[in-house]
Amino acid sequence: MKEKMFHRICKVNELREDEGRRFIVPASDNPDDEVEIAVFKVKGNIYAVSNICPHQHTALIYDGFIEDGCVVCPAHGWKFELKTGNQPTGRKGLDVYPVKIENGEILVAAHPKKFSW
Ligand code: FES
Repeated sequence: MKEKMFHRICKVNELREDEGRRFIVPASDNPDDEVEIAVFKVKGNIYAVSNICPHQHTALIYDGFIEDGCVVCPAHGWKFELKTGNQPTGRKGLDVYPVKIENGEILVAAHPKKFSW
């Protein structure tokens, strides 16, 4: 199995607690293959999820508010668990991406979009 490619996105201390930031990250070796991700720091943990809401495909997840370990889309209030990307209701969720921290820097391994919505 091919090893995941992690990409440096920013420093941990450049994220504010409970406030998302948006990044464009390569999703494969193909330079045209990129995904838009939303990164959050919640209770000191870092999470990376798709920035595109499955409801109306708005790129606003980074601007959502945090509630009970979930991000709430600011457009119409769909809620997604940051750990799993799932909605508590069981409806369509967000892709989640592996994160690691090295020397105070956040690295994310993105992959092409899984959900076909
Ligand atoms: S676009 Fe996210 S809830 Fe409607």
